[in-house]
Amino acid sequence: MYIYVLFLSSVWLRFIFDDFENVKSIIQRGMYDEATIAESILQKGRTQVNQGLASVSVRRFESFGFLQTKVIAWEDVGVKPDLDENGRQRLDIWYEYSCPAFPEFKATIRHLDGSFTLDDLLGFNNTGNVCVWPSEEILLYYCLKYKDYFKDKRVIELGGGMTCMAGIALAIGGEPTEVMLTDGNEQSMQNVNVSLKQNRNSFNNTEVSAMVLRWNEEEKLGSMVGHYDCVICADCLFFDEFRKDLCSILLKLLKPGGEVIILAPSRNGTFWKFKEIVAEKFALIVTEEKYDDVIWKSHLKNKEKGADSYDENIHYPMLMKLKKSL
Ligand SMILES: C[S@@+](CC[C@H](N)C(=O)[O-])C[C@H]1O[C@@H](n2cnc3c(N)ncnc32)[C@H](O)[C@@H]1O
Repeated sequence: MYIYVLFLSSVWLRFIFDDFENVKSIIQRGMYDEATIAESILQKGRTQVNQGLASVSVRRFESFGFLQTKVIAWEDVGVKPDLDENGRQRLDIWYEYSCPAFPEFKATIRHLDGSFTLDDLLGFNNTGNVCVWPSEEILLYYCLKYKDYFKDKRVIELGGGMTCMAGIALAIGGEPTEVMLTDGNEQSMQNVNVSLKQNRNSFNNTEVSAMVLRWNEEEKLGSMVGHYDCVICADCLFFDEFRKDLCSILLKLLKPGGEVIILAPSRNGTFWKFKEIVAEKFALIVTEEKYDDVIWKSHLKNKEKGADSYDENIHYPMLMKLKKSL
């Protein structure tokens, strides 16, 4: 019985996090038994999703290898771990991130430990608390490579997950005037705020802030309406219920003539579905599969490993650039 429950939970958790479904949708589809099982597994408080993934997901591709990480003890960072709901220290991990291609970038970033309570799973989407997805890595690389484009610009990252790595890297390696880091998940943004403090001295003259921002909450925007020259966004196009909201908030946030840079995999055509939504709303829309020689070479090399470890449908980020009319 115990093994059966573990098996079900692994399959169920992989289903949630590898293929981006969530508990709500399972319940909505009437598969309540699994949710009940999960509840009994989770009743002790937390479950370690990453372990579940590692044990069942044979095709999980982690990264393009552009980033290097070194684990740092929290004592060396000087930030005590947060406590969980049972008063136990969380196992969040600090990393020193660097990118050999762009030595000017170095950041101290905290990852959440990948454990979730049932409340977390039932609450707002948690896909940004699982890992830094390959699209965020490529967005970071792209932002550093084209940092001159961002000079003196006001930039906002949407759906940046628990690290908002691309936005933070741009604030460290580039010279935008402002970077606003956002995600709709509160836990992600609490974590981003903790990392933000650690990197304050690396931001040169860029003003960096962070906030919880959900794409259907335009009423929260206030002075942010029409404020930004550029929006950056990684792997956020696959939420069927939010694509229209995302398109609408992009238009609200941008100045006339402002631009959007999106990196996202096809994910069963959701990239192209988003393109259909933005089609008549923006003055210019460019999509590119082969937008950078280095990234393309890495993509081809990964493909040689076979579809079991690298599936371009979910791992290769394509580029979409949008320009708002003047
Ligand atoms: C796959 S994750 C990508 C996170 C990060 N960009 C990365 O690539 O590592 C998708 C992100 O979109 C965020 N998200 C989903 N729906 C959202 C919405 N309606 N408003 C704001 N953020 C949303 C999730 O919280 C999550 O962090």
